[in-house]
Amino acid sequence: RIVILDFGSQYTQVIARRIRECQVFSQILPHNAPAKKIAALKPQGIIFSGGPASVYGKGAPHPDKAIFELGIPILGICYGVQLMAHHLGGKVEHSTHREYGPGMLHLTTKSPLFHNLPEVLDIWNSHGDKITKLPKGFRAIGKTDNSPYAVVEQPKKRFYGLQFHPEVVHTPRGKDILANFVYQICGCKMDWTMGSFIDQTCEEVRQQVGDDHVILGLSGGVDSSVAAALLHKAIGDQLTCVFVNNGLLRSNEAETVQRVFGDNFHVKLKYVDASTRFLKKLKGVTDPERKRKIIGNEFVRVFEDATKQLTRGKKSKFKFLAQGTLYPDVIESVAIGGNPASLIKSHHNVGGLPKNMKFKLVEPLRQLFKDEVREVGAQLGLPKEIVQRQPFPGPGLAVRILGEITKERLRILREADAIVVAEMKASDWYYRVWQSFAALLPVRSVGVMGDERTYAQTIAVRIVESQDGMTADWVRLPYDVLAKISSRIINEVKGVNRVCYDISSKPPATIEWE
Ligand code: XMP
Repeated sequence: RIVILDFGSQYTQVIARRIRECQVFSQILPHNAPAKKIAALKPQGIIFSGGPASVYGKGAPHPDKAIFELGIPILGICYGVQLMAHHLGGKVEHSTHREYGPGMLHLTTKSPLFHNLPEVLDIWNSHGDKITKLPKGFRAIGKTDNSPYAVVEQPKKRFYGLQFHPEVVHTPRGKDILANFVYQICGCKMDWTMGSFIDQTCEEVRQQVGDDHVILGLSGGVDSSVAAALLHKAIGDQLTCVFVNNGLLRSNEAETVQRVFGDNFHVKLKYVDASTRFLKKLKGVTDPERKRKIIGNEFVRVFEDATKQLTRGKKSKFKFLAQGTLYPDVIESVAIGGNPASLIKSHHNVGGLPKNMKFKLVEPLRQLFKDEVREVGAQLGLPKEIVQRQPFPGPGLAVRILGEITKERLRILREADAIVVAEMKASDWYYRVWQSFAALLPVRSVGVMGDERTYAQTIAVRIVESQDGMTADWVRLPYDVLAKISSRIINEVKGVNRVCYDISSKPPATIEWE
């Protein structure tokens, strides 16, 4: 495996993903992880991420110095190579002009890091400081117009450094450089595959769970669905899934989950139709935060009730609760230079964990990135409509109906949303965007239909692209696709006479409307 030390770069997770794309397991640790702890993991290589700090800066993150004595190859990226220079006797200086954007790398000396790569490469820079003197034993092997030390190495110790960012897509051959580091320099084998992950995880889950029973809140989203399929493979009928219909689902959603998991996979599935309960609680509520709170609390109650019902009269209680927690949710992190972006973001899991229920946790996906989860799902035989599914908020359509939630308004939104989805799929856009959905606005406007004046509701269409939901941009969808969506909604959905396209990005808007 490869250990990546996080010095606060926005790209740390991207580095980890690139390494895994080489079929080598990678793990992110905080920058100050003790060398002993790192050595205990027996990594074949270590990567220092970039970071926003300056090596001399107050509070700048540094690694445990003993890390340089472990005899393990190290690759420093950007701030990471500056750290290496700084700690091993070189010099780093604040540069008068920041090098940001595309650049051209000229290799001057042959190195295994550039095995099978051309001598001139397009690269992507983003740094202020730069190395001005190399530590003893180091030499430059590549340069850019702006920096004589764009690539450095200390071949005996197998220390390598890149001033630019090989992990981003703007460095087209960057992945090959990282691959050379892991294969040529660290000697890693390609043994991280989703097939081997599935086998190993099934074995671990069986060990962990023994003869006990596991309960899982299945939402139909990618994470809980893949967790369910994986656990079902591991422990079969010792797994029970609870699917709560909160009345705020999209059209056909409950049916799809029952068909896929009940009929096809034969998972023990308890379907709870709690829609009346939820809608009653939401009656008259228009405040977005209150909606969310009510739905969250109600979910916990419904889930508890379902668990109690399932355990009644049985000896075997559920000892374990399974969750579809992913790797980005569990990466340990430390704030760097007060940069909140470097702190772990709070994650909202499927409806939230019942806090006062005493379960042990089973989290079979906690080592995986989202792409890997999708691949595991596909390998387990889940259909594309589930594994490639767009994110859907826990509070469901409630946060896409502005104003009061009524049965009638739910009907309108469901029908409009189904048209958006159908047209996105028909035009091949659905799987190319982050999210595409309809929202129902709390306004009515005047229109004409035939010879009659109408006074009806407005649908907003929201289609965004995003990497992780933290920032997003609206999709420049072709006009003809938008036109089709609009005319179908107005013609087919009773009660709607106007459709708008939301052209705001996040920030300052959010993806959802509430
Ligand atoms: P916003 O609206 O904050 O959404 O830009 C960012 C992403 O998160 C999803 N989202 C949620 N997901 N529970 C969830 O599981 C929630 O309460 C929730 N609220 C928003 C949203 O769909 C988008 O992908």
